[in-house]
Amino acid sequence: MSNTFLWTKNYSVGIDLLDSQHKTLMELTDNFVLGCIEATSGDIKPYFKKQITAILDYLVLHFRMEEQLLSILKFPAAAAHRRGHARCMGEIYYWLNEINSLKSQVILSFTRYLRERIFDHVTGEDQGYGRYILHLKRRGFQIPRSECALAGTENEVYR
Ligand SMILES: [Fe+2]
Ligand SMILES: [Fe+2]
Repeated sequence: MSNTFLWTKNYSVGIDLLDSQHKTLMELTDNFVLGCIEATSGDIKPYFKKQITAILDYLVLHFRMEEQLLSILKFPAAAAHRRGHARCMGEIYYWLNEINSLKSQVILSFTRYLRERIFDHVTGEDQGYGRYILHLKRRGFQIPRSECALAGTENEVYR
């Protein structure tokens, strides 16, 4: 299987730190799906369980950082964006609760869903705040340093 979900500059949201996290998320999930496909000759559950935690931990960290920044930047649709993140995590945890009773093929479908969900997040949902950030940059808006430090993104917010 080829690596079809590579990050490109077209997906940039205008903040290096978040772009780099998106890139990592896409690579992690791509490798994860590939690993699950390779493991289907046996039982994929042990592989799945071992790898899924790392991805979800990273996703939670990413969502949290994104939400902090959108709040600092006073993104008008920040609340709706936060709800989108919560919905995504809800869907994922619903699947994880069912995982022990599921067949390998169904788990494989979930891994593909997860990869597409991450892809949609980066190339769809997040592009809305990307346009907003571009708009702020054009107007010369600067984020107060103290607030950037709060989100751990000092010196990384503006390129
Ligand atoms: Fe994101
Ligand atoms: Fe997001």
